[in-house]
Amino acid sequence: NGNVLKGSLCADVETGIVNRNIYGHFAEHLGRCIYEGIWVGEQSAIPNTNGIRNDVLEALRALSIPVLRWPGGCFADEYHWMDGIGPREERKRMVNTHWGGVVENNHFGTHEFMMLCELLGCEPYICGNVGSGTVREMSEWVEYMTFDGESPMADLRRRNGRSEPWKLTYFGVGNENWGCGGNMRPEYYADLYRQYQTYVRNYGENKIYKISGGAPDARYEWTEVLMQQAGAYMDGLSLHYYTIPGTWAEKGSATEFTQDEWFLTMKKALFMEELLRNHGAIMDKYDPGKRVGLIIDEWGTWFDVEPGTNPGFLYQQNTLRDALVAGVTLHSFHDHCDRVQMANIAQTVNVLQAMVLTEGEKMVLTPTYHVFEMFKVHQDAKRLSLDVEAGEFERNGESIRRVTVSATRNASGTVHVSFCHLDDTAPVTLDIELNGVTNDDPRVSGRILTAAQRNAHNTFTSPDAVAPKPFRDFVRIQNRLSVTLPPMSVVVLEI
Ligand code: AHR
Repeated sequence: NGNVLKGSLCADVETGIVNRNIYGHFAEHLGRCIYEGIWVGEQSAIPNTNGIRNDVLEALRALSIPVLRWPGGCFADEYHWMDGIGPREERKRMVNTHWGGVVENNHFGTHEFMMLCELLGCEPYICGNVGSGTVREMSEWVEYMTFDGESPMADLRRRNGRSEPWKLTYFGVGNENWGCGGNMRPEYYADLYRQYQTYVRNYGENKIYKISGGAPDARYEWTEVLMQQAGAYMDGLSLHYYTIPGTWAEKGSATEFTQDEWFLTMKKALFMEELLRNHGAIMDKYDPGKRVGLIIDEWGTWFDVEPGTNPGFLYQQNTLRDALVAGVTLHSFHDHCDRVQMANIAQTVNVLQAMVLTEGEKMVLTPTYHVFEMFKVHQDAKRLSLDVEAGEFERNGESIRRVTVSATRNASGTVHVSFCHLDDTAPVTLDIELNGVTNDDPRVSGRILTAAQRNAHNTFTSPDAVAPKPFRDFVRIQNRLSVTLPPMSVVVLEI
């Protein structure tokens, strides 16, 4: 019976640790992500904490964000950090050439970003400028942020009101240097990477985890060259992959899409797993001990912008389809947690696959937000052995897997199992044998995110159209668990 998939969970077999940083985020100076979305300024009528809007802060805090990447993206290779320090009114006003040609007033700079991370309780991940910046500029930025002694940059930081250095672990040496970050060949970038990273110093106790700019999609030769020629100088190598149902020119609407586009989007989301496998295999050749982390520091859906909005702002709505893409992709990261040490969804607010959308003083949580909130139980938990038949989801003679799953045990011993059901037409039942579940309490609890419509989404007038609900469609009898997933659903069970 194609509607029953068999599986087995071995809760006493651990298969790795899901690094909490896999649940990382990315906020760029792009459209209304930083300005309006996060930063409104101290004088704003929108309630804020030192300029950061309180509603967004509170929503993001509930996600337990582990790490936040900033300031770009393509913006990073045009950003000169000294423009963003000192009295705000005196900061340079510049053009954000990459994103909409709007004025960037530099009001949100290093101090504001570090404050945001402190308020969120997350680690900063800063991306430096290789494309249009100098070695000295990058080196001095790290000195400014992390040096405790007497030096020109540490003294400047103190004059700008911050006496203690910040703790900074994650530092990226450029972004997409094959494209907006300088249109370089991998051999050339590998040499620049080696040079720039030399001057990214560890001051005192602060130890930097250096991340090299990586490949887009299936550009495997980039990974090959970087690992071969610069692997010894890096702690992490980046990879970017966006789920785009159409083409770069016509990506498709975020909300008005067909059943075929649903299928295509799921297929493209599943492609992440293949990318992780293939880039990982290349890394294994040069780094069999898996010292270097694969850092997927940009991922998510990318659709056409909402009609009437600035094409350079990348503002898109977020539906149940995005929720499934998020769940499926996070499961792929779990499956490769031996190599994937961090991932950062693009982007936190108002841009691409955002957690929250804002309009003036209004804010709404997206379906993607809810997946991150439901899945946060997996952060830093031990991944457990769970095999479930993939099933088949067919359309127009093509077939992809129907479900993705993952199980983990947290520090207090609780087992969580998450499920994504990709099929948009019929329910499916999973019949799972439970082994090694020491807790013989027959109670299981769960939450589900689903809706009747493929394009269900939250708006400022209807903010809870897609929100988690209690889930009860399961039966546990001793060592068997039978779960029935409705079409298009994301479920997390606590066993
Ligand atoms: O996330 C939007 C953009 O996508 C980033 O700035 C860039 O790195 C990528 O091409």
